[in-house]
Amino acid sequence: MIRSVVRGNGAALPRRIMKNADFEGMVETSDEWIVQRTGIRQRHVAADDETTASLGEAAARAALDSAGLTPADIDLIVLATSTPNNTFPATAVEIQNRLGMHHGFAFDMQAVCSGFVYAVATADLYIRGGLAKRVLVIGSETFSRILDWSDRSTCVLFGDGAGAVVLEAAEGAGSIADRGVLAASLRSDGVHKEKLFVDGGPSTTGTVGHLRMEGREVFKHAVGMITDVIEATFAQAGITAQDLDWFVPHQANKRIIDASAKKLGIAEQKVVVTVDLHGNTSAASVPLALSVAVADGRIKKGDLVLLEAMGGGFTWGAVLLRW
Ligand code: UT7
Repeated sequence: MIRSVVRGNGAALPRRIMKNADFEGMVETSDEWIVQRTGIRQRHVAADDETTASLGEAAARAALDSAGLTPADIDLIVLATSTPNNTFPATAVEIQNRLGMHHGFAFDMQAVCSGFVYAVATADLYIRGGLAKRVLVIGSETFSRILDWSDRSTCVLFGDGAGAVVLEAAEGAGSIADRGVLAASLRSDGVHKEKLFVDGGPSTTGTVGHLRMEGREVFKHAVGMITDVIEATFAQAGITAQDLDWFVPHQANKRIIDASAKKLGIAEQKVVVTVDLHGNTSAASVPLALSVAVADGRIKKGDLVLLEAMGGGFTWGAVLLRW
């Protein structure tokens, strides 16, 4: 059977780093509160000339380089983002143009923090369905542009950045030993909209709006939802937590990551944590975490890797792949 195998990956971060202490003069907060409650120590914040498209393009170029490919080799770009450059056209199409790519097709996918997990699962279906041979899957966000910088309960939590992978069609035996995407489980439920949403949009206010979150409410649901989709993914693949080499979760809060790993019985040393470095970068968080763990030599060819995310909507999901 056809498998979607990761051929390369890359990342891009804005130049400016904001430390927790930088918020202390802006809102009533402290480095101590932020570290204790979230694990975040710093985040990157985009300058005016750094956009979802420019960061996405840079991550895409890095992923192509690591794969030894050029834009000419790509058939499809799927960009996961909730902070597009424009309401339309899709920022994926803008990235396609920035890459000098005038063949194939590109589209955005909007599943907030779960966007990259949704996008990998979607790209896998395009590949297995024969509509594409090589897909650039990108998560790129500039959440700094939709934050209310006077709201301490949200502005300290998020950051900007982008990450990307190149998925390529390859023949597999149909077993769990294959490289590539092996299983996926996606969920959403709009009943939770008010707990995490943006209070503007083209069809309602005609404005971009600001992110609003009832953090405690999101937290209450997060661990149960995350562990449910992961258990569904394990069941699909016929594996247990012990079989995993790496757990690469969405990076929203270290306490959520720790509680999820503990509930699933995933050993602490198998968990990739980058929330301290990047904050919550929404759809970019999982590919950014992947890029760190690949660059430092933790994730290697043949490793069994579990991706997971949960966010606004609510949306949540997991993807199991062999690197
Ligand atoms: O990516 C999408 C998914 N999003 C998430 O997963 C986020 C989920 N939620 C969380 O990570 C946590 O709920 C937060 C980090 C947002 C908050 O942590 P918490 O332990 O749930 O704190 P809390 O909301 O219960 O607030 C505790 C206190 C409150 O004060 P009172 O009401 O107890 O007097 C807040 O007003 O902390 C206060 N607070 C702050 N204090 C200092 C809220 N934000 C801050 C702040 N600095 N930045």
